[in-house]
Amino acid sequence: MRKYIVAGNWKMNGTLEETQILASEVVNMYNDEVNNGVVAVLCPPFIGIAEVLRLTRGSEVKAGAQNCHQELSGAFTGEVSAPILASFGVNYVIIGHSERREYFGEENALLAKKVDQAQANQLIPIYCCGETLSQREGGAHFQVIEQQVKEGLFHLNAEKLQQTVIAYEPVWAIGTGKTASAEQAQEIHAFIRSLIAITYGSDVADSISILYGGSVKPTNAAELFAMADIDGGLIGGAALKSRDFIDICKAVPA
Ligand code: 13P
Repeated sequence: MRKYIVAGNWKMNGTLEETQILASEVVNMYNDEVNNGVVAVLCPPFIGIAEVLRLTRGSEVKAGAQNCHQELSGAFTGEVSAPILASFGVNYVIIGHSERREYFGEENALLAKKVDQAQANQLIPIYCCGETLSQREGGAHFQVIEQQVKEGLFHLNAEKLQQTVIAYEPVWAIGTGKTASAEQAQEIHAFIRSLIAITYGSDVADSISILYGGSVKPTNAAELFAMADIDGGLIGGAALKSRDFIDICKAVPA
């Protein structure tokens, strides 16, 4: 179901103490200040998830993982499976973040399997796509996004596709302080929705949340979230500060 979602991707940040402070501050501030119905999701490193779950219990704030393995279980040292995440009470899992694609060689075909495994275990995948700077400068961004979205998600039937969240994160805007303009982001979000509409129909396309990620801050969030096809954000650096993360949550239209 299409709804506004603001997910914090903590990446490789969060000692035990930092995790406890950040998660409890977010819960308290969300309860006190946020009343626009936005779904807030905290995605710490795997080891921090249990603590985030403990601290968010009974609140509207959800927990997510940054990755999961494509297999159900087995001899995959260092990996975490979707059933393990689900058993702990995780709701969301980021799949195909550009850092996973770049540094860990994750490609669309593998990501499609991760999406399946997540869904088979009742986790909601947040499937990421996004072009690099050279791809954009070479005019290849639409083609890159189309391939990432189709190869990662279009094997799903309509019902399963509707149970996913998509995140558009232009690689050149991640951690660079250089955000896509609201118009640039809207253009790609509308394009992703049109791809879905062509294959699955507009009802399905209109029911999927498409998040924007890449240097979202309290100062630019409202403008981005006001665009017709931007349904929230996937937040990196600013998600490590409770004040900024909550202000971004509050930038969602009521
Ligand atoms: P920044 O918000 O730090 O640019 O990171 C975005 C991101 O990669 C979220 O997944």
